[in-house]
Amino acid sequence: MKDLLECTALITGASSGIGAEIARQLAPLASGLILTARRADRLEALADELREANAGLRVEVRSCDLLKQEDVTALCDWIEADQVPLDLLVNNAGLGDPGVFESSEWQKVDEMIRVNVVALTYLTHRMIPTLRRHRPGAILNVSSLASTLPVAGLGVYSATKAYVSSFSEALRSELRGTGVSVTQVCPGPVETEFAKRAKRADGTSLPTSTPTFLEVPVADVAAAALRAVATDRARVFPGSIVTAAALFFALCPMFILRWGMEKRMGAIRDRHVPRGRPGDESYVFDAEFDQP
Ligand SMILES: NC(=O)c1ccc[n+]([C@@H]2O[C@H](COP(=O)([O-])OP(=O)(O)OC[C@H]3O[C@@H](n4cnc5c(N)ncnc54)[C@H](OP(=O)(O)O)[C@@H]3O)[C@@H](O)[C@H]2O)c1
Repeated sequence: MKDLLECTALITGASSGIGAEIARQLAPLASGLILTARRADRLEALADELREANAGLRVEVRSCDLLKQEDVTALCDWIEADQVPLDLLVNNAGLGDPGVFESSEWQKVDEMIRVNVVALTYLTHRMIPTLRRHRPGAILNVSSLASTLPVAGLGVYSATKAYVSSFSEALRSELRGTGVSVTQVCPGPVETEFAKRAKRADGTSLPTSTPTFLEVPVADVAAAALRAVATDRARVFPGSIVTAAALFFALCPMFILRWGMEKRMGAIRDRHVPRGRPGDESYVFDAEFDQP
């Protein structure tokens, strides 16, 4: 997909953060946007803003819970039945769960896998025929710097993003020559609602604050992602420090990464690993408890 001009894009997770910013930056170029997420009021407000700023832009709002298969199926059915000329699919919606796996709530783990992995895969599977019909087309998958290493304390999240990255690369090769490109964007920390929403209700989250020098503004992340789609890049890490970190992780032998992760967990464990299970009488989550 060359210049994104006159494209019609479906953006998941468009109600906030990176998805909303991608919509804002695509709006002056695109001829149509389909914004989807659960919070319809947010989507409607964004749609009004985009229509007002971009005369002639068609904006559709589709409220869709990616945890509900019937919602996702209905979204795909509508795109097919109405022959929406979709040529860009942005798989952006996602959630995290910072904390040790042992004390995670199964419901959140399940949701993370279903949104980050299952819904992304299903949407891609359903939309490839449509994208091929309206080629040149593109798929933009939002992965993460966390896809590049098994982050202790973010184990399931980084595994879901490793899935997104591996899947994106394989699909890119499979679709070569079909007129549909696949790009992944792997942001490091970005200030959005992500960290706040990821926080565990029972207080067993690991600290989510990251050094500010690693943070990349959301506008830069969206711009890097769209530039990568327009230039048919396989993968982009927005920001020079994040790119350097990714390169370091890629070149670093696994035993050193493992050592680093164990060190990180060692420091965190002393203060943050709970005893027992949330809700049990024996449950302790306190910086002061005695070590075994
Ligand atoms: N922020 C970071 O530091 C960072 C770093 C690397 C990668 N990422 C990735 O970037 C992507 C966007 O995250 P963000 O930072 O923009 O966070 P965000 O502001 O929390 O946005 C997440 C989006 O996903 C949507 N979503 C979550 N669960 C959903 C569900 N069940 N059904 C439909 N939509 C759902 C949310 O919409 P509703 O709640 O309205 O449904 C929201 O629009 C994610 O894939 C995340 O993993 C973020």
